[in-house]
Amino acid sequence: MVKAIRPIPPAVRDAQARASDPKASTFVSANAGSGKTHVLVQRVIRLLLSGVPPEKILCITFTKAAAANMAERVFTTLGHWVTLDDAGLDAAIREAGIAHPSATLRREARKLFACALETPGGLKVQTIHALCTRLLQQFPFEANVPARFAVLDDRDQNEMMERANLAVFLEASRIPDSPIGRALRTAMANAADVTFKEVVREACLSRDHFMAWTDAAGNAAAAAAQMSAALDVSADDRIEDVEREIVDGPNLPRSSWKEMATLLDTSSKADQKQAERLGGG
Ligand SMILES: Nc1ncnc2c1ncn2[C@@H]1O[C@H](COP(=O)(O)OP(=O)(O)OP(=O)(O)O)[C@@H](O)[C@H]1O
Ligand SMILES: [Mg+2]
Repeated sequence: MVKAIRPIPPAVRDAQARASDPKASTFVSANAGSGKTHVLVQRVIRLLLSGVPPEKILCITFTKAAAANMAERVFTTLGHWVTLDDAGLDAAIREAGIAHPSATLRREARKLFACALETPGGLKVQTIHALCTRLLQQFPFEANVPARFAVLDDRDQNEMMERANLAVFLEASRIPDSPIGRALRTAMANAADVTFKEVVREACLSRDHFMAWTDAAGNAAAAAAQMSAALDVSADDRIEDVEREIVDGPNLPRSSWKEMATLLDTSSKADQKQAERLGGG
């Protein structure tokens, strides 16, 4: 059974027509699937119908999928218009929000498909990222970026990071007594393989912050000293000392463990596990 198409309420149509009027500056916020993209597509079509050259229109989306979807809808609609007879085309133009189509408008409407497709640098529907990349590529000196730069995709980025990591590791193991050699030894003793990689990656991705921080501190050693002070740890603190302080320190003296274990035993599963540990200690 074919489901009957539910009519679009006149109030919705009116609101959509007002929002797609190129003369109005509009902000549309509406539920998922309620016709936002439809309104944008109508707006583009109405701009084209009013004689705006395709290359003067720029549509920006957040995702590539949304850009493809919008462009596809504009071209499908305009392509469909070429196939319609006069009455059908008038109805379609009215549907787009223009109340009184004329013969001239019909003629224009039939040319739009070819015009939008063929104009060099024609209708632009693209992601905000693509637009920004293009702007930077056009004005590299003003933006202080290398001319003819390329944007890395995730795979290239990972590959470069792996290669750089490997080069640093090789260098560090070649000269174990250099600062970098000693750093690698410390890191290997303290971090699991995966954690270490992640930490390095995070650090590389936030290198601007790191550099600004170490520059402000004067050098890497001074920056490390600042961090030690903030965390209240010193270079000769040992993990055993920290553990001893936890177990033998004043916060939870051994004399209270039994009492604490009894309390924890009445609580959640995780707490009962703690109770077991305290009881066993
Ligand atoms: N006035 C209208 N006439 C005909 N079809 C319409 C109208 N308004 C919305 N639709 C249809 O409703 C469906 C959903 O609309 P659309 O994709 O534009 O919604 P959306 O708000 O952009 O959705 P999403 O939140 O998923 O991005 C589409 O098939 C669209 O063609
Ligand atoms: Mg949408």
